[in-house]
Amino acid sequence: MADAGSNTGSDLLFGRLKPQAPDALLALISLCNADPRPTKIDVGVGVYRDPQGGTPILRAVKRAEQILHDTQETKAYLGAEGDARFVELMRELVFGGTSRDAHIVGVQTPGGCGALRLGAELIKATGADARIFIGQPTWPNHAPLIGCAGLPMVDYKYYDRDSHTILFDEMMQALEGARAGDVVLLHGCCHNPTGADLSLDQWDRVTAFMAERCLIPFVDLAYQGLGNGLEEDAAGTRMAVERCNQALVAHSCDKNFGVYRDRTGSLFVKVTSEEVAKVAYGNLLSLARTMWSMPPDHGAAVARIILDTPELRADWEAEVKEMCARIRSLRTRLAAFDPRLAYINEQNGMFSMLPLSPEQVKALQTEEGIYMAGSGRFNVAGLSDANVDRFAQAVVAKL
Ligand SMILES: Cc1ncc(COP(=O)(O)O)c(C=O)c1O
Repeated sequence: MADAGSNTGSDLLFGRLKPQAPDALLALISLCNADPRPTKIDVGVGVYRDPQGGTPILRAVKRAEQILHDTQETKAYLGAEGDARFVELMRELVFGGTSRDAHIVGVQTPGGCGALRLGAELIKATGADARIFIGQPTWPNHAPLIGCAGLPMVDYKYYDRDSHTILFDEMMQALEGARAGDVVLLHGCCHNPTGADLSLDQWDRVTAFMAERCLIPFVDLAYQGLGNGLEEDAAGTRMAVERCNQALVAHSCDKNFGVYRDRTGSLFVKVTSEEVAKVAYGNLLSLARTMWSMPPDHGAAVARIILDTPELRADWEAEVKEMCARIRSLRTRLAAFDPRLAYINEQNGMFSMLPLSPEQVKALQTEEGIYMAGSGRFNVAGLSDANVDRFAQAVVAKL
């Protein structure tokens, strides 16, 4: 019997916890920070970097924060839905012309992660035995976020790293095996980790198939504006939501507003009637209350002020364009360096993958001070005009 007051009862509770592997990317950041070489290149961490290697606060964000500081009169609670005007503005940003669809309900969430988790919990709460189809590779946090809600996941191969191609036929074949009511996770744009987005023609084919088979898209739109533009990057999401009578969209402002730590996102759910919409909304609120009660306000208030103030909105749009253009020009530089890197210019967003073994990735780290994820994923925006050629040279030597 456990002896009260001694340590012998530790196996009753916390002593039973299993050790967890540390986050590989966070470990990579520490390694890179500790590297004294001035020529080191950090293409591991997933944040946008400017040509000087910094992740500064956007001009429009700084100005909106000043307005918020000067005008906010209370920090009293908002509801579990968050900032209602923010959600309305996000609807317009994500859905454009169809944003008034009364079958779509939305709430503010703590970042895209919160939106993905809440969406998974809502699916679970239906009690239907829906499975989630997930293309591989995908962002490593997808499975934990969705799995936490207890949803069964079905993996299929989405991308071949060696030939740099989307395995679209394999994807369609995998979806042949889905049952009506199953959910398909899709990256809205700027696929993480591969940069390989479905073409509009592929979106057309896959969403037509899903609508016909009553499969439900769950679109993760975390990088709107950083691939080809704010409107262009929403095109696939809009097609999916217009075609299918039920859908989910997890949206993040953390990248395109650069407010990563402010945890700013939203979840939208399309259902089949206004009546169901009311019930779904009520379920979203009660699920949110069990997880975070209400989302953090600051980032959403800032995004709201920006989008509601024409001058700030124009400046923010210009800044998003700037980020997008910088990523595109780095992609062009890499592609021009060697034919084996040409595929990088066809891809979108912050990430692409190099067909390197973990040993080659490690060798780049020790020999060249180049830090990237073990999978060969690298952050294009982590490069600068000054080091892009050295990076390309070092990588090509390993291919
Ligand atoms: C594909 C993808 N989805 C969602 C997220 C979550 O973003 P947030 O930081 O807003 O939670 C990320 C973040 O890296 C991501 O890469």
